[in-house]
Amino acid sequence: MPVGIDDISFYTANFSLDLQELAANNGSNAAKYTVGIGQERMSVPGADEDVVTMAANACVPLLEGMKTRGEDSNAIKTILFATETGIDQSKAAGVYLHSLLKFSPRCRVVELKQACYSATAALQLATAWVARKPKEKVLVIASDIARYERQTPGEATQGCGAVAMIVSANPRLIVLDSETGIHTEDVMDFWRPNYRSTALVDGKYSTKVYLRCVRSAWQDFQQQSDLKFADFDYFCYHLPFSRMAQKAHNHLANGNAHELSTKTLEDQISSSLIYNRITGNSYTAAMYIGFISLLDNTAANLAGKRIGFFSYGSGSVGEFFTGTLVEDYQDMLHQQGHQSMLESRQPLNYADYQKMYAFEVPTDGGDHEFEHQTNGKFRLTGISQHKRLYQVR
Ligand code: HMG
Repeated sequence: MPVGIDDISFYTANFSLDLQELAANNGSNAAKYTVGIGQERMSVPGADEDVVTMAANACVPLLEGMKTRGEDSNAIKTILFATETGIDQSKAAGVYLHSLLKFSPRCRVVELKQACYSATAALQLATAWVARKPKEKVLVIASDIARYERQTPGEATQGCGAVAMIVSANPRLIVLDSETGIHTEDVMDFWRPNYRSTALVDGKYSTKVYLRCVRSAWQDFQQQSDLKFADFDYFCYHLPFSRMAQKAHNHLANGNAHELSTKTLEDQISSSLIYNRITGNSYTAAMYIGFISLLDNTAANLAGKRIGFFSYGSGSVGEFFTGTLVEDYQDMLHQQGHQSMLESRQPLNYADYQKMYAFEVPTDGGDHEFEHQTNGKFRLTGISQHKRLYQVR
């Protein structure tokens, strides 16, 4: 029985900063951002946006689609919420989401963490679950806010976003294969101790570890599957910034696909980079936003095409896996919604970006109402006695 992703959608925050504006104010050459790392803008969250509100917004098109088609959302009996932007050390962010979206009490919820990789762990767990209980569906969430210290090389690679995907039997979007390649290695390339709100990173080292990991995960994949590089039509990589995927793809092709032209290699990934260039890194969500970008921005019919996915999470765990797009997959796309959501973001000037960056959720246990900034359906309205308060508009 085929198992895979039945529907997928993403959401990002309502504000964005042009990296030319960042460069003009921090003394960098703008080409270092636009060409060197291949980024144009980054999404910036308002005070009333967090991983829960972004995730809930990402779920809306999926739930509306189920409603329109007369499908029972109670078939979703599990929510797996992948994030490294945890809002609580104990309570899963997904429980807030469960309440905001009025899921049945007969739906289990759990949070998963391993840097940017955990959404892929969630997806793999979901496929195994559905293979065992084919009538049930699993909602997989990836939601993160990438945040580095100001005036560091990481600052230009910030961003945020959330992906929601429904995993089911006989999926209408993509069937996933069970063979995967894995590489796990204890390294300190990027991490965030519990007492910090920004990540620590050994930037250049992290890019080297990423490349080592993609090669090793691919080698393991080759042990598990008969598929060769030439059997793939498109590739989606974890996207801390778009140049990283280009480097990873060339690295993988080097040794596997000498006969492919530079243009063919570029065509295999270029559509997957479009949304990342204007949203920035969204950690767990980044590769899946790349997948949505490929689907939304490719005019040709991709039914029957095979996609290779490389998911990377610092620390580090990487996994290479694959899937094939289903006939009429276009019926499940939310391209217009994604594009109008991206266009409706409010561009920030540098001063406003600095103000928004400086905002931190108060920790004094008092009652605090947050400024109404987002135009999304869900808001974090404030915090009272250490309890986060959410609202549906
Ligand atoms: P940096 O020091 O700002 O930049 O760090 P650089 O000096 O290395 O320059 C970057 C590129 O721009 C170079 O190209 C330059 O030559 C080029 P490359 O050698 O790489 O091909 N350049 C220019 N190009 C055109 N015109 C110019 C110009 N100037 C320079 N004028 C770095 C860059 C990515 C290290 C930094 O932004 C950083 O630390 N980012 C955060 C860490 C990161 O994103 N790592 C990626 C791999 S790890 C990962 O993906 C996991 C992660 O998502 C977290 C998780 O798993 O949870 C981060």
